[in-house]
Amino acid sequence: MNIHLENVSPFEYSTPCLVVPVFQGEGELSGIAAELNGRLNGLVAEVIAEDGFKGKAGETFVLVSNGQTAAKRVVLVGVGKAEKLTATHLRNAFAKAARRVRELKKDSFAVALPAFSTLESLGVSLEALAAAVVDGTVLGLHRFDDFKTDEESKSLTVVEALTILSPDAESDAMKSAVAVAQVSAEANLRARLWVNLPANKKTPQYLAEQAREIAHENGLNCIVWDEDRILAEKMGALYAVGMGSDNPPRFIVLEYSPRGTEHDAPIVIVGKGMTFDTGGYSLKASENMEDMKDDMGGAAVVLGAMSAISQLKVPHRVIAIVASAENMINGKAQRPSDIVTARNGKTIEVLNTDAEGRLILADALSYASELNPRAIIDFATLTGAIGIALGTEAAGLFSNNDELANRVLASAEDVGERLWPFPLWEEYREHVKGTVSDVKNIGKPRKAGSIAAAVFLEHFVGEGIPWAHIDIAAVAFTRDDLPLTQRGATGFGVRLTLDLLRNWQ
Ligand code: BES
Ligand code: MN
Ligand code: ZN
Repeated sequence: MNIHLENVSPFEYSTPCLVVPVFQGEGELSGIAAELNGRLNGLVAEVIAEDGFKGKAGETFVLVSNGQTAAKRVVLVGVGKAEKLTATHLRNAFAKAARRVRELKKDSFAVALPAFSTLESLGVSLEALAAAVVDGTVLGLHRFDDFKTDEESKSLTVVEALTILSPDAESDAMKSAVAVAQVSAEANLRARLWVNLPANKKTPQYLAEQAREIAHENGLNCIVWDEDRILAEKMGALYAVGMGSDNPPRFIVLEYSPRGTEHDAPIVIVGKGMTFDTGGYSLKASENMEDMKDDMGGAAVVLGAMSAISQLKVPHRVIAIVASAENMINGKAQRPSDIVTARNGKTIEVLNTDAEGRLILADALSYASELNPRAIIDFATLTGAIGIALGTEAAGLFSNNDELANRVLASAEDVGERLWPFPLWEEYREHVKGTVSDVKNIGKPRKAGSIAAAVFLEHFVGEGIPWAHIDIAAVAFTRDDLPLTQRGATGFGVRLTLDLLRNWQ
């Protein structure tokens, strides 16, 4: 999308459609909405009084300006009550507005932003305001229609350009906030595309090729290990999971090292990359099995983030790791009761082949721990239990380090991707303690399933390394239309990761 900033009066700017935010209020209209009302001889006040539009967060109303403004159509968008304003309200409202513009079949539009100084007292930062417009537009307009071939689908309006009209348009802070938000939102879209692809269009090898392409575009180092190398490198858990499929596993490493950081301890991000999860011999039920194409959502997060990292000039050395496999059934697939040895030497009894994510992550985290990392952050669609605990409103956060957890939570807040912390108390370690091996890959039936998975992972994180695990199983993909995602992959985690890396001190 083409996004640019202008410091022009919104009423003089010629555009097919102008979006004007409106606060919900008992009394007088304020700001741009009040000015618009004046220009249109009281029309805004009239629709509020007579047509049910109140300015509630996300409400829209279309006005025909009849020559009174340079824009032919005006979309009013409610942002709720001023005293309750949040970045999330703004982001969601702008997404609604952008979709309303598309319904009006306009391929470009402008948004009239109030001066930042008027919002500061409401607790919204300049960055949050800029990001809300950009995120709302870029994420809110996204749809996955790559495989639609009918005429109707192909002739749908594509909104190509957004102009942000702001009194702050010339400030460097505003310019940079818009640019950062656009790069981050577009990285999110890239992650969505991978997750939306069905498994016959994405194999571990496909993810490896995408990683190579990202490396090429951004000047990163890329290593891809095939199944033989995975075995030779003692990644017995990833190997065992991957050998049940004709699409063999891959281990992928991407390294970003801006000048002068070559010898720094890296921040390592790790993603679970199951391109499909049938459960293996512990076969899943067929109902909803199609959702398991999203089981590489963690990989999509780290690859999406790496695709933007050099453009955002992140000033730290960052290494991304993806363990990728397809959990299928053949004559070489693992059986419940098999014992495998992970790269760090620990033995694992595989009591359920459907708890495969923690197996491939065992090797990825072992490898990550060898890199002398400052911290490891992993993203994984790991457990159904996380959705039982939190629904689809938040992802689960598990960490052995409060400082790291707080950084991650702060970024989650910045970008509006909710996380909720879980405990890793010592008592839970009993749940995955092995009987015939060091650890087993499942905990107690129906007890703290997401925590059991996390304490399992902890066995493969080197002593003293700050580590955060983010379980995105319930948020990576949505069946309902959400404000920022219309059914499908959400890209949850990409903007969080980029915010975290950019703000890391
Ligand atoms: N990929 C699934 C988890 C999942 C569930 C992701 C729902 C997205 C939506 C994972 O590999 C899995 O199957 N976990 C099992 C673990 C169990 C066997 C201990 C689960 O959650 O049922
Ligand atoms: Mn599984
Ligand atoms: Zn899985």
